[in-house]
Amino acid sequence: MELSANAQALAYLVSAILFILALKGLTHPASARRGNTLGIIGMAIAIIATLMGNEVKSYGFIIAGVAGGAVIGSVLALRIQMTAMPQLVAALHSFVGMAAVLVAIGTFINKQAAGALDAVLMGELSAGIIIGAITFTGSVIAFGKLQGIVSGKPVKFAGQHLLNLLIGLVTIGLGVYFAATGDVTALILMTLLAFVIGITLIIPIGGADMPVIVSMLNSYSGWAAAATGFTLHNNLLIIVGALVGFSGAILSYIMCRAMNRSIINVVFGGFGSETGGGESAAATAHEKGVKSASVEDAVYWMEDANRVIIVPGYGMAVAQAQHALKELMSLLEERGVEVKFAVHPVAGRMPGHMNVLLAEADIPYDHVLEMDEINPEFPSTDVVLVVGANDVVNPAAKEDPSSPIYGMPILEAGKARQVFFLKRSMRPGYSGVDNLLFYQDNCSLIFGDAKDTVEAMVTALKGGGH
Ligand code: TAP
Repeated sequence: MELSANAQALAYLVSAILFILALKGLTHPASARRGNTLGIIGMAIAIIATLMGNEVKSYGFIIAGVAGGAVIGSVLALRIQMTAMPQLVAALHSFVGMAAVLVAIGTFINKQAAGALDAVLMGELSAGIIIGAITFTGSVIAFGKLQGIVSGKPVKFAGQHLLNLLIGLVTIGLGVYFAATGDVTALILMTLLAFVIGITLIIPIGGADMPVIVSMLNSYSGWAAAATGFTLHNNLLIIVGALVGFSGAILSYIMCRAMNRSIINVVFGGFGSETGGGESAAATAHEKGVKSASVEDAVYWMEDANRVIIVPGYGMAVAQAQHALKELMSLLEERGVEVKFAVHPVAGRMPGHMNVLLAEADIPYDHVLEMDEINPEFPSTDVVLVVGANDVVNPAAKEDPSSPIYGMPILEAGKARQVFFLKRSMRPGYSGVDNLLFYQDNCSLIFGDAKDTVEAMVTALKGGGH
């Protein structure tokens, strides 16, 4: 059965509305599942309506592609660790970029054979190829850096930005020339140079800044899809591309604002290099007056507390300590202690990282508070457990104008009566800067893997405490 153009347009409209509702649903953990379901229904309608359209000539290749993609996608989704999610997203963006390049080249070959090329279409093809190729190689490099295949260190050399600008201008020039003449050599050169730009744009950026870059590449992949939509005269692809393009751009902006950095600073900065304070920090820890505490000390404090706030961070994700934290929460609540979780907008390594992990451990949403809601509560809190977090509670962001994180909004954990840090060493966090909170009188460090430490707390509490 073939769908009429009108029926297909209607189906696309329904899908577009479902995608918008899906994005709305994904803005809050409580409605995220519904958002996902709406997105899946929207995508199913879009795929069926496309397959039933009059442009499909044979189903053989499509079925083979869908089957191959489904197998790869299912295996990846089942095997991927939560901490490796950013590189999975980067890898998926690279597919979108490559698809845009291939569709544009395929369209060019088809239309040329049919003698149906015009300057507007060629302009769209150029845009699709350039954005798609940059997205492809950029995402491959981002994937490599996050996976540790390519060095996470910023790769920099003199005149780098000038070189990028030059290659960019030549590529655009070739794109215009191709649009005007249909010259195949220009097409090939433009495509190759756009691939090169994707590499040279991303290699100078430190591995630690990759989440923002992945979100930017997400935005590029949306624009590449929108350009493909123009080429194929497919309205749904244009709408979906624009939704992805804008949401990626907005997310990059939100991430940068929560880190108090401009996007320009991320792209040209090289922040958070891999060399941290490491061992030298450990050596000076004692001199600087850092106190360490035992699990029993912390349990003693928590049992007597009225309110305990837990601040999760990247280390909680690494240690996978969320389930043990849920148990700790339940045991403390049984003893009449109020327990809350404080989530900073950029805690972890990707947006919503902590919320997803806490939800996975069945920690109720009403126990999880955002920075602005929870900050006024710290001064009346007895104990704060900082579980594998660091930068997001560092008072240097408020007190030290020379600090790279100066101006970044923080969780004001240091205002509580007592703070316990659960971490393995004196090593700094993502930003590579020392944490001033370690040296405050009301702060102690409990060294060790976060999961082991929380499990030891649970055992101590179950043992009856004092
Ligand atoms: P970080 O400041 O990176 O601190 C994480 C801490 O976890 C480290 O100090 C580390 O100390 C500890 N840790 C690691 N593995 C551990 C384990 N197994 N057990 C216990 N502790 C462990 O993390 P954060 O506070 O979540 O801050 C996030 C940072 O990432 C911010 O600077 C933010 O700007 C940046 N960032 C975030 C995003 C998004 S969107 N979330 C995007 C880009 C950048 P030890 O090594 O001593 O254990």
